[in-house]
Amino acid sequence: MLQRFSISLDSGLLAKFDAYIQEHGYSNRSEAVRDLIRKGLVKQEWDRNSRVVGVVTLVYDHHKPQLQERVTDLQHRFYHIITSTTHVHMDHHNCLEVTIAKGRASDVQELAQGLIALRGVKDGSLTMSSTGGELH
Ligand code: NI
Repeated sequence: MLQRFSISLDSGLLAKFDAYIQEHGYSNRSEAVRDLIRKGLVKQEWDRNSRVVGVVTLVYDHHKPQLQERVTDLQHRFYHIITSTTHVHMDHHNCLEVTIAKGRASDVQELAQGLIALRGVKDGSLTMSSTGGELH
């Protein structure tokens, strides 16, 4: 059920918020506020080391000695939280590998940092997500 509440903002902050809404393509203030609240709740889940879901994206050259094995070794070390991996051969040298992990935020972060820090990884990132309420 939708509930309404009003927000008091000074005009400078409101002008910035309206510019933000326009830049991000929101159709109205309510949808933008809802998204910001959800983002705050997701961040809180990670900060509290709750059960979360994270997506680790890596770009690397599979010709780099032992890099592929190191990626696989690390994934096996965290097999209990990894739900899936997808590997795309981007061109002759480059691979894109996406690892989806569901578990305690600290474990997901340890996995992500380990993968991203491997020598030879050209680009790596962790997308932190959650339902905004603890996963079971
Ligand atoms: Ni590949």
